[in-house]
Amino acid sequence: MEREIMVRAEGLVKTFRSGDGSISAVDNVSLEIYRGEFVAVTGESGSGKSTLLNLLGGLDKPESGSITVDGREITKLKDSQLAVYRRRYSGFVFQFYNLIPVLNVEENIALPLNLDGHEADKKRVDELLRLLGLTERRYHFASQLSGGQQQRAAIGRALIAQPPCIFADEPTGNLDSANSREIVELFRKLVDEYGTTIVLVTHDANVAAEADRIITMRDGKIVDEKVREA
Ligand SMILES: Nc1ncnc2c1ncn2[C@@H]1O[C@H](COP(=O)(O)OP(=O)(O)O)[C@@H](O)[C@H]1O
Ligand SMILES: [Mg+2]
Repeated sequence: MEREIMVRAEGLVKTFRSGDGSISAVDNVSLEIYRGEFVAVTGESGSGKSTLLNLLGGLDKPESGSITVDGREITKLKDSQLAVYRRRYSGFVFQFYNLIPVLNVEENIALPLNLDGHEADKKRVDELLRLLGLTERRYHFASQLSGGQQQRAAIGRALIAQPPCIFADEPTGNLDSANSREIVELFRKLVDEYGTTIVLVTHDANVAAEADRIITMRDGKIVDEKVREA
């Protein structure tokens, strides 16, 4: 069966200036990610994982190369269009959750839609809270939640606009092993039961092992790829 491509990146280059030299954080990377695939990106610190994810999620722009997500060539978008793309089409999850402290769980989850001038559908929010196990926490603020609960709320925020693809940068990097396990199981469930596409950066082999495919980076390049046996 022909698989549908969700993300296609070709010849991505991103260089940062450092002192009097420069660092190729992403050095001519090409990759394809299928719809409904769970991909883990691993590699040592500084290998370019976050830079690559930021490019794919539209948080940063490459110097050269092209990125197409769900049929949209995001590398052709102007900054204002890219901001809209991020709110509607790219769900980002960060290591430190990045919840807004003055908003409760429900308000944090609804934020991407509100910023876009829409109300969140009450039924959809209820359904998400149930899926995330946060129904009892909907009126709590980040300061009243455990790390695992905060990350689940952040995943809810990434999911509310039903983006075609979720990008997560070390989402378990600040969690203990029990909470890490819970978060990675949640991602697995999103892929298996809802057909979500997930690109997840991690240096935790136990987390990567849950993915369908593991991509390893070194010095800004993809140096290895392993597909999990079905
Ligand atoms: N904003 C930046 N300014 C300068 N150098 C950066 C910046 N972001 C990343 N780098 C450099 O690019 C390389 C890749 O970084 P990064 O993508 O964060 O790696 P990883 O996520 O794998 O740890 C590193 O050498 C890092 O120091
Ligand atoms: Mg990183």
